Amino acid sequence: MRMRKKKWVGAFLEEGNKYLYEEASAIDFDKTVYLEIGMGMGDFLVESAKRNPEIFYVGLEREDTCVARAVKKAEEAGVENIAIFHEDASLLNEIFPSKSISRIYLPFSDPWPKKRNHKRRLTYPTFLKIYAEILKDEGDIIFKSDNDSLFEDTLEYIKESPFEAVCVEEDYYRIERDDVMTAYERKFREQGQPIHFVEMRKK
Ligand SMILES: C[S@@+](CC[C@H](N)C(=O)[O-])C[C@H]1O[C@@H](n2cnc3c(N)ncnc32)[C@H](O)[C@@H]1O
Repeated sequence: MRMRKKKWVGAFLEEGNKYLYEEASAIDFDKTVYLEIGMGMGDFLVESAKRNPEIFYVGLEREDTCVARAVKKAEEAGVENIAIFHEDASLLNEIFPSKSISRIYLPFSDPWPKKRNHKRRLTYPTFLKIYAEILKDEGDIIFKSDNDSLFEDTLEYIKESPFEAVCVEEDYYRIERDDVMTAYERKFREQGQPIHFVEMRKK
């Protein structure tokens, strides 16, 4: 999601904010911590945090405008169980302690269709290796996508990774308490697109 940077965004992010974290030392890892990578504008993160106050939600996103919008959403909701990192996913193992995260969400990651860009995909084996470092042994990764090629390739990437796919659904629909729709999921469902789902766990 490449967004034109809005004027207010730079100053807003510069100011700092209680939801914007630069390091993970302020997070209580005795609590269950769930991480969304590429959280966009934070719809999923904020709604999940409202529904599940016992869980601490971390959102990571590299685009300035998305981060600023997500922070504003968290402020409006007044939730206390959210931290937002304005960072790139390649730095996750430098930010988070080893085996500190109970669940990672990868909803509607950018599909990067051209082969030369596949290494940027958030399920590429180099990223899965990083996730394995910060995820607890009993933790899981939830991946959802509308994109056939990203879904099929992800099943191949998993074979080269410390993970195995424990649940694969080509046309997924399940209603659970913590199965909040992201903005992209809502958009694709309205268009009648099947949503692909993969849950992976460490081998
Ligand atoms: C297609 S959007 C999906 C947003 C949201 N998860 C949803 O489902 O509505 C993908 C998001 O991932 C972010 N992203 C892509 N690669 C990233 C990376 N390496 N590190 C952090 N964020 C990344 C993009 O900036 C974009 O906001």
